Amino acid sequence: MKILLIGASGTIGKRISAQLSKKHEIISGGRTNANVEVDITDSASIEKMYQTVSSIDAVICAAGPAKFGLLAELTEDDFYVGIRGKMMGQVNLVRIGQKYLNDNGSFTLTTGILSDEPVFGSVSLSLVNGGVNSFVVAAAQELPRGLRVNVVCPTVVEDSAEAYADFFPGFDPDSMERVVNGYVRSVETKVTGKIIKIY
Ligand SMILES: NC(=O)c1ccc[n+]([C@@H]2O[C@H](COP(=O)([O-])OP(=O)(O)OC[C@H]3O[C@@H](n4cnc5c(N)ncnc54)[C@H](OP(=O)(O)O)[C@@H]3O)[C@@H](O)[C@H]2O)c1
Repeated sequence: MKILLIGASGTIGKRISAQLSKKHEIISGGRTNANVEVDITDSASIEKMYQTVSSIDAVICAAGPAKFGLLAELTEDDFYVGIRGKMMGQVNLVRIGQKYLNDNGSFTLTTGILSDEPVFGSVSLSLVNGGVNSFVVAAAQELPRGLRVNVVCPTVVEDSAEAYADFFPGFDPDSMERVVNGYVRSVETKVTGKIIKIY
């Protein structure tokens, strides 16, 4: 398969790329150091990306800008970082991409445990994770030409455990292998409309 992986240089993206490149052709997407440049907060940039790469069988998004912070301190603009980035960025990858993907292609988005299990400072992330999860369940019903959409929803991943330890007290980190397998399941099986929870 030809797979467009947005966020390929990130903590999770690097691991997805290492695994899926054993069997598939990976085109990396991101704002820097990528095969194709894209800023998911900008729908014109997403459209341009899809026009640049052709014949894509699967899109994976492991990018999702959002702002951590306490409800008492976040401004409205702080919330819009996540709404424009992690939420509408991923929604637009599907909304625009449905015109471009090959028949029977798939989209795999990324959210996280904070939709179900909030921590202090997660209000904005919890909001957009929940929005993307619900979007996927609904969008799967409407996609044309056999296209599929799923979302991988991990807890804190092993490679970030140290950096995020203070924010996630008592959370057991996911192994990178389990997280990557969520993406493999979404891309290589026929499942659709699924929130693939890795916890
Ligand atoms: N790490 C965890 O423990 C964890 C747990 C659960 C869920 N998640 C979620 O998983 C996703 C990836 O997390 P991560 O820890 O791997 O992130 P990361 O290490 O910060 O990497 C983010 C990746 O996304 C790209 N990116 C950032 N903003 C972008 C934009 N506007 N347009 C296009 N690409 C963009 C970055 O490349 P450029 O900067 O070059 O664009 C980079 O490749 C996020 O949605 C995060 O909330 C992470």
